Amino acid sequence: MKKPFRIAVLASGGGTNLQSIIDQQQCGKLSVDVALVISNNPGAGALVRAQQAGINTLCINHRNYSTRHDFDQALINALQQADIDLVVLAGFMRIITPVMLKAFPQRIINIHPALLPAFPGLDVQQQAIDYGARFSGCTVHFVDAGVDTGPIIIQAVVPILPEDSAATLAERILEQEHRIYPQAIQWLAEGRVKIDDRKVIISDSTSCVKTLTNPTH
Ligand code: GRF
Repeated sequence: MKKPFRIAVLASGGGTNLQSIIDQQQCGKLSVDVALVISNNPGAGALVRAQQAGINTLCINHRNYSTRHDFDQALINALQQADIDLVVLAGFMRIITPVMLKAFPQRIINIHPALLPAFPGLDVQQQAIDYGARFSGCTVHFVDAGVDTGPIIIQAVVPILPEDSAATLAERILEQEHRIYPQAIQWLAEGRVKIDDRKVIISDSTSCVKTLTNPTH
């Protein structure tokens, strides 16, 4: 029998992306074993969601480690012990250091609430609004040594409306995050994802060719 594809989700906050992964897995659309959820934040809602779903959880509080390296080493030990194939960052508010990248080469992915390479970093919904962008969206990408710079796996586009606040835009973007993150993970679990230089190739995938315009008239 084929070994299940084991993922760990790392989250610092509420965990709605984690929830979408759990839901898709439970309804049979995502063929992975969510083997472990790790948070650096003891109060993370993500830990509660995982426990409710019967998933193993671990809190590795960065405050208990004197260096980033020691914290990362604790993460690596836990991930290796759980025999994890893919590390899924879902609102994990710690920088991933080279030691972690080396331990899981091309096996760490992240979701970012903007259309990269526009608006990397934090508070990006407000930044997109303030910039006057007509569209934003979300991006699933491999993690590399930069901040939100790794090869892009999938993106979804969301319009920015004149009345949007950061909160309403974030909500519209999150809906798409919950759709594309499980999709990207499924592609990886199926072994369909290759990186060519910095381009990601998904074998046997179809592309959307629709052109979007905002405003329309
Ligand atoms: C999401 O907007 C994600 O794109 C960003 O952090 C947020 C996490 O939200 N990296 P949640 O904890 O999954 O609800």
